[in-house]
Amino acid sequence: MDPIVITHPSQLPSLGELPGYPHDRAVLLVDPSGFDIKYVINPHMEGNVGAVDHAAARDQWLRLRDACADAGLEVSVLPGDAAFPDLVFVANQGLPVLRPDGSRRVIASRMHATQRRGEVPIVSAWHAARGVDVAHIPGFEGLPFEGTGDATFVPGRRILVAGYGFRTDPALLGAAAALAEAPTVALRLVDPRFYHLDTCLQVIDAERALYVPEAFDEDARVMLAALFPRLSEVPLAEAVDLLSCNGWSPDGRTFIVQAGAHATNAAARALGLTVIEVPTGEFLKSGGSVYCLKLGLPW
Ligand code: ARG
Repeated sequence: MDPIVITHPSQLPSLGELPGYPHDRAVLLVDPSGFDIKYVINPHMEGNVGAVDHAAARDQWLRLRDACADAGLEVSVLPGDAAFPDLVFVANQGLPVLRPDGSRRVIASRMHATQRRGEVPIVSAWHAARGVDVAHIPGFEGLPFEGTGDATFVPGRRILVAGYGFRTDPALLGAAAALAEAPTVALRLVDPRFYHLDTCLQVIDAERALYVPEAFDEDARVMLAALFPRLSEVPLAEAVDLLSCNGWSPDGRTFIVQAGAHATNAAARALGLTVIEVPTGEFLKSGGSVYCLKLGLPW
């Protein structure tokens, strides 16, 4: 099938006919040495400029690193950079794509905020040094695309699920879909507290996902229900206060998530997942948690 952007439930492809797609096998993290809050580009950052406890942030990040290693992932760590206080949120600078021929590609992001634009060449250089094809979306000058913050493959199905409205512009999703070589379901985000798809949708596999219904428009909710037979709700309060929908299941068995999100944990367990709680409170002040702090690699 030719890559295509799906914006309405009537356009969904026949899911059973899609080829497979693997879970992540490795993970890239960025050392939190440069992490800080120096500007406000999402509602969670308001009132938090200068409020990071750096020792606590390092402890929390080390817990996350260990949880990734315990899940059996190969862990790589890129140094931090004080010039880029959000570089630690390494979900955002690109979208890894395992191509149908087995080769590796990363679609480079174009960050919405000027303060974050210099992060992309840093992460792209790391991929390129490992032989990965770093692809740039052609055209659409000035329009943003924020990597796995807003776009994710579905393990088990070669289809991309993308969010738009705050950080990613829907106009360039067709060009991104062509580079991803996958049909792309475009979901409109409607609440600025859920400014990235990864704050309000966690795809586990072709059957299961967790989501925050209030973060999506009606067409998006209908498409999610059609895509995932077992779609569970994350309650709004936990999803806002603890970014509990920003957890991550690297393997379809475990779910690594901000500590203390009891209702979200229960929903994840009901989906058959083993919950691993890690504290990410210093990063929540910047609008990020587990999922944002890592880049999953399907190779
Ligand atoms: N302060 C960062 C920003 O607003 C947080 C990014 C969180 N990342 C994510 N994938 N949701 O850009």
